Amino acid sequence: MQHIKDLLHSCSHLLITAGAGMSADSGLPTYRDKEGFWRQYPALKELNIDFEEITTPSTFLFTPSLAWAFYAHRYNLYARTLPHEGYSLLLEFAKSKKSFFVLTSNVDSHFLKAGFPSQNLYECHGNIEFLQCRCTHKLWRLKGKIAMNGFEVVELPKCPFCGSVARPNILMFNDWDFNDERECTQAERFHSWKKALNQDELLLILEFGAGLAIPTIRNMGEKLASAHPNAKLIRTNPQDAQIPKNLGYSLRMGALEGIKSLLDHP
Ligand SMILES: NC(=O)c1ccc[n+]([C@@H]2O[C@H](COP(=O)([O-])OP(=O)(O)OC[C@H]3O[C@@H](n4cnc5c(N)ncnc54)[C@H](O)[C@@H]3O)[C@@H](O)[C@H]2O)c1
Ligand SMILES: [Zn+2]
Repeated sequence: MQHIKDLLHSCSHLLITAGAGMSADSGLPTYRDKEGFWRQYPALKELNIDFEEITTPSTFLFTPSLAWAFYAHRYNLYARTLPHEGYSLLLEFAKSKKSFFVLTSNVDSHFLKAGFPSQNLYECHGNIEFLQCRCTHKLWRLKGKIAMNGFEVVELPKCPFCGSVARPNILMFNDWDFNDERECTQAERFHSWKKALNQDELLLILEFGAGLAIPTIRNMGEKLASAHPNAKLIRTNPQDAQIPKNLGYSLRMGALEGIKSLLDHP
């Protein structure tokens, strides 16, 4: 731990990467296994629909009320939940470095909510607060709560341009329809940040709660850690903490506990 803390102290640049486990400590579910998912959504258990099935664009086409029941419930939950203290501790730490960036597959908008600048954020799977429609490339932002009656949305969110039922700007499974304009802009900023990194200065990658099922975040962090001559990756995860030895170190603990230990916060 002391060696890891020395790395935190001496790094010039910081990349924070996060998967669903980062938000687990704010009380948001990770949807890891089918049973856990169905405990959250008994209505979907009755229909024998799992996470991979409900999170496809075709559910919005063929069963929009059901698709929106799931997404509106998630949207409302994410909107009324506050990011845990670890976010602001990380932000304060990040600001003390020469440069920083955040890469997350979370769609809950919690880095933005915690005050991270949008210019330093790459939400590679989108953001639940933004909506899209096929009639335009423009995205628009949802505001306030989506009214629900049990597991039913009172009025399905519509496109302000053409009136069709909209869908969230989230990358789903088998998604041929994802509007990647916002994602591409963020990706370009992320690539420019990486390109500008001084290879002689220490880059620290702090990863929290990224799972193995869709390993985008883990892979991107590992790839950068091996490509950069002066980088270390610290993987914090209570279960899936394993890491290739040459790339860095792992902390087998929850995100909030990990952040507090790393930053010496009581
Ligand atoms: N909050 C969100 O935005 C959210 C939530 C669930 C799923 N998703 C979406 O589903 C996909 C899920 O992939 P994923 O890898 O992020 O999640 P995942 O559900 O596959 O894995 C979650 C990981 O978090 C770890 N974890 C559990 N509790 C933790 C804690 N308290 N602290 C730290 N880690 C903890 C688990 O061990 C696991 O490795 C992503 O594409 C994402 O877009 C997003
Ligand atoms: Zn439209």
